Amino acid sequence: MAKMWAGVTAGKTDPTADDFNSSIRFDRRMFRQDITGSIAHATMLSAKGILSEADCSALTEGLTGILEDLEAGTQEIDGSCEDIHMFVEQVLTERIGEVGKKLHTARSRNDQVALDLRMYLRDECDGISGQIRGLLKVLTDLAEENKSSIMPGYTHLQRAQPVSFGHYMMAYASMLLRDLDRIADCRKRMNISPIGCCALAGTTYDTDRHLEAELLGFEGVCPNSMDGVSDRDFAVELLSALSILMMHLSRLSEELILWASWEFRFITLSDAYTTGSSIMPQKRNADMAELVRGKTGRVYGDLMGLLTVLKGLPLAYNKDMQEDKEGVFDACDTVKMSLTVLTPMLQTMQVNAENMLHAAQEGFINATDLADYLVRKGMPFRSAYKISGQLVALCMKEGTVLEHLPLSRYREYSELFEADLYNAIDLKTCMEKRSSEGGTSVASVEKQIAAVRVILEGYSE
Ligand code: ARG
Repeated sequence: MAKMWAGVTAGKTDPTADDFNSSIRFDRRMFRQDITGSIAHATMLSAKGILSEADCSALTEGLTGILEDLEAGTQEIDGSCEDIHMFVEQVLTERIGEVGKKLHTARSRNDQVALDLRMYLRDECDGISGQIRGLLKVLTDLAEENKSSIMPGYTHLQRAQPVSFGHYMMAYASMLLRDLDRIADCRKRMNISPIGCCALAGTTYDTDRHLEAELLGFEGVCPNSMDGVSDRDFAVELLSALSILMMHLSRLSEELILWASWEFRFITLSDAYTTGSSIMPQKRNADMAELVRGKTGRVYGDLMGLLTVLKGLPLAYNKDMQEDKEGVFDACDTVKMSLTVLTPMLQTMQVNAENMLHAAQEGFINATDLADYLVRKGMPFRSAYKISGQLVALCMKEGTVLEHLPLSRYREYSELFEADLYNAIDLKTCMEKRSSEGGTSVASVEKQIAAVRVILEGYSE
């Protein structure tokens, strides 16, 4: 069959060329957006008197029927069509006859595909944001339960200072709040309508782009028709926001993998999120967390892929731009799957507070507090730091810890040491004293939790 676009050519391409050219394999998922967009287009054309009301009703009914049948699975998508736009128009014309051919008045596939992609990704932004909020809820609940659970905080992966596990969880909450913000920001620029830009130069018909945009929930219209059809910044921005989000999920996954190891045993992942080995029966592998870490690479790849496709494209539409979809769809799918697994994995894991405390008691993570004690008694910090270091070395040599070293030994190093030093280096005191804004004290963590909860409540309104 000759192509719908047969004109100066016979429209009879080689089947392998057809295959190569076709995008229906992956753009079929935009059928809802394509049909909704077309209904709005017909409505606008009739409001402007370009189509009769009768034609508009026929088109709208036909399109609605196709949508219902596709949803119900009673209409199959014909994989031999070039793309989803051609498919819908072809079925429409089969169903309602000649009037179906009027739908493509005052538009082009170039503005149509840009419209569909913006609408599709707009929904993805909303879905992913909802999932991020779900993870934030789990993180804040974990933080609440563990605001007093002491663990070693690390720098260079060396035990550094005591923090609460709740504080640790809220660090990830802060990262995810930024992700939410980035997605909302990118959605704002995405939510501008390109329809009506037509092939590249606009149209000779007296259309109303604002009406059509409004019908489809857009905040405005692309101000330049050439940019409107060739802009894919919104997809690049989303990919970039998703790459950063995956980087955060990957860091969290890495922590879970470490914490679930026999060396740490800070957490025990539930059996539902643990796999075994085909040969080593003792294994409890954190495969899902490893996969989230691994899949981060493919989302970065999707971002680089699209940036590379767009680089050097002259205005306006070029077929290269058909390559925009697979990567951005893959990134959305990957992010959604990762969040779907990671959230319940965190929710169901067991937090081994005693093991964390035990690790906290072994790493001299109160050495800074010991130095601070001397500073409070009047010694300059550098001298106090030196004495504290000497005492740690002494403890290491004698196989003990600062808490158990007798006062007499302390006083060999400084007369400023008194019995109250033991309270000053108690891990609980060390944590509680870090009550500066954003610090690890219980009150500070409670404040962080409350702030996130206010944000989350704002969404459910
Ligand atoms: N399938 C095409 C895409 O995804 C639709 C736009 C085609 N436009 C054209 N002039 N060939 O980009």
